[in-house]
Amino acid sequence: MYKTLHVITYGCQMNVYDSQRIQEMLTILGYSLSQEMDADIVIFNTCQIREKAEEKLFSDLGRVRILKDRRKEFNKEMIIVVAGCSAQALGKHILKRAAYVDLVVGPQTYDKIPELLAKIERDRVSETKPGQGILRTGFPKISKFDNLKTPRNFHGVSAMLSIQEGCNKFCSYCVVPYTRGAEYSRPLEDVLQEAKALLKKGAKELVLLGQNVNAYQSKNFLGKNVTFSELLYRCAELEGVFRLRYMTSHPREMTHDLIRAHKEIPQLMPFLHLPVQSGSNNVLQAMNRQYTVQEYESIVEKLKEARSDIAISSDFIVGHPEETEEDFEKTCQLAIRVQYAQAYSFMYSSRPGTPSALKQQIPFEIKKERLHRLQEILRHSQKTFNMSKKGVTLPVLFEKKGKHSGQVLGKTPYMQSVYVHTKNNVSDVIIGTIQEVEILEGHLNSLMGTFANNEKQTYPHFNSHLL
Ligand code: SAH
Ligand code: SF4
Ligand code: F3S
Repeated sequence: MYKTLHVITYGCQMNVYDSQRIQEMLTILGYSLSQEMDADIVIFNTCQIREKAEEKLFSDLGRVRILKDRRKEFNKEMIIVVAGCSAQALGKHILKRAAYVDLVVGPQTYDKIPELLAKIERDRVSETKPGQGILRTGFPKISKFDNLKTPRNFHGVSAMLSIQEGCNKFCSYCVVPYTRGAEYSRPLEDVLQEAKALLKKGAKELVLLGQNVNAYQSKNFLGKNVTFSELLYRCAELEGVFRLRYMTSHPREMTHDLIRAHKEIPQLMPFLHLPVQSGSNNVLQAMNRQYTVQEYESIVEKLKEARSDIAISSDFIVGHPEETEEDFEKTCQLAIRVQYAQAYSFMYSSRPGTPSALKQQIPFEIKKERLHRLQEILRHSQKTFNMSKKGVTLPVLFEKKGKHSGQVLGKTPYMQSVYVHTKNNVSDVIIGTIQEVEILEGHLNSLMGTFANNEKQTYPHFNSHLL
């Protein structure tokens, strides 16, 4: 019988990508994916960014422990693996607090999971070291990507592709430089090879990922430096790539060339996640963000000159140490000026080991109240943006079926989710194609539309096309 594998993923897109790679490695070895937590192998791919993420891990571990104990009554084993950023940051503390965890691996060592699982199983059979958890959280010299040669097992339309990892920016509130390590870019040829494999598997959109994706720096086979914008041009040349996106970009790395790429590459979507974090120069400085509000807004301006319809999204942190009411007000003003199409906002969460954690903290109630006020503004601009598309016809890349029969779900170039009802049972053939959709309604989180030319509903005369 195949062993079953259940993977639980917390955190950012990079973790989602890593979980996909872990699943690919293990399914090749004969493990079968299970939706149930009561599986032979349970892997938690964790996030350490805010305290809440860490709390969630330990509460979920408590739940899985009950399942592991129950299995024992039936003489069945369960191997529990904690991977990802909390594994890196907390290390042996996890094994101490949750002694039933068998393996802790960091984000740079998850390629070792198959051999470590085999070791755990061997040790169990020979009963040499029962119940002793293994810790592998180093930063190996050889990148995990060099060992991740397993073919991509992709089903879907929009494919994530990790091209860069780690961070050297050391924002004073953030754990990422400690959990993911120093900036590292995958070699250009590896990236292109993986991109081709994903496109061959039917991907129509590539989302290039990195903690600082625009800090990407590699060399081509002639030894010449390749920047992130050059990588985008190379990706746009690949056969079958309808759309390109990337995240997360740091404002400091928005080079002239990268901004120009938004003008020149038709597949590069007019939507950019460009986190600002705060609208006050004092707070930006305390955060060590290394740009000013004025610099940030000038980048947004240049992006708009390059691509007039570009939609911007952001992350915000409210209540960072030293943020005064006046500072916070500046953040609100910036949000109003930029009119974000979408945004994430968080209460500052003090993370052990980071410089901001040592400063005088702002009371929870103040942070909560500020978050509430900022979110009102962000919700308003998001809804206004979505409603502004009413009556407009947009090219929508369809990704999957909706919950209701005949309903299909796709994305506009601006990353908005669009629901369309199809007739004549054509929903299957529409998935993976771009269709012109007339937007009928704009809501806070989604749009509703209809095919712009209803005659087109008589598939197979459909033409999928680029923008
Ligand atoms: N590299 C990206 C962000 C990665 S983390 C960048 O520099 O923009 C994703 C988001 O989590 C950050 O943009 C920030 O808004 C938020 N974040 C990071 N550390 C945090 C903390 N300690 N408390 C609250 N939010 C935090
Ligand atoms: Fe964290 Fe700053 Fe690096 Fe982003 S740039 S990952 S916020 S340290
Ligand atoms: Fe979380 Fe690690 Fe991503 S801390 S946000 S999973 S890089």
